[in-house]
Amino acid sequence: HFDDHASVWLFGYGSIIFKADFPYLERRPAHIRGWARRFWQGSHDHRGTPEAPGRVVTLIAQEGAVCAGMAYLITPEVFAHLDHREKNGYLRLATPMFFEDGQQTEGLIYIAAEDNQAFVGPASESDIARQIAHAVGPSGRNSEYLLKLAQALRDLEVDDDHVFAIERHLLQLDPQAAMLSSARRA
Ligand code: BEZ
Repeated sequence: HFDDHASVWLFGYGSIIFKADFPYLERRPAHIRGWARRFWQGSHDHRGTPEAPGRVVTLIAQEGAVCAGMAYLITPEVFAHLDHREKNGYLRLATPMFFEDGQQTEGLIYIAAEDNQAFVGPASESDIARQIAHAVGPSGRNSEYLLKLAQALRDLEVDDDHVFAIERHLLQLDPQAAMLSSARRA
């Protein structure tokens, strides 16, 4: 019943899952194939500083991978607004997207590609957790970002070995982080 050109699906795999601060017509759990969610994008302006940069997720092309997240049906005007905001190193791509009932459509994703200035790439999950534990920026603690993402994935009943392993390391390093994160949520 929606005119094809009047609305588009945005697939969120990171902060957009737990913080959709834009208007949307509908939201549905969904997944994309061939992409893996990884804490490989540096953040010196949102969840860290130039002296102690944080890490946030981006998508890495990987055959056979599945990335589950949340899809939002939005109008082109909202996209124009997000394009402007997310432009900093992020590319917008179209990819096949699947709802949990198997229905396929097109989803748009923002990815921070490997050639952007803030891309940091792989590290061990314990090193990533250590870096996250020490980073805080204008948008808040990097640990809050990690814990909110992990909780949102649990709420969606999504398994994500990478995110949950980093969360386990973080909670060992900083047992109080969970309290701070849930206090903020309350
Ligand atoms: C996401 O959650 O999909 C996302 C959030 C910020 C920048 C790019 C992508």
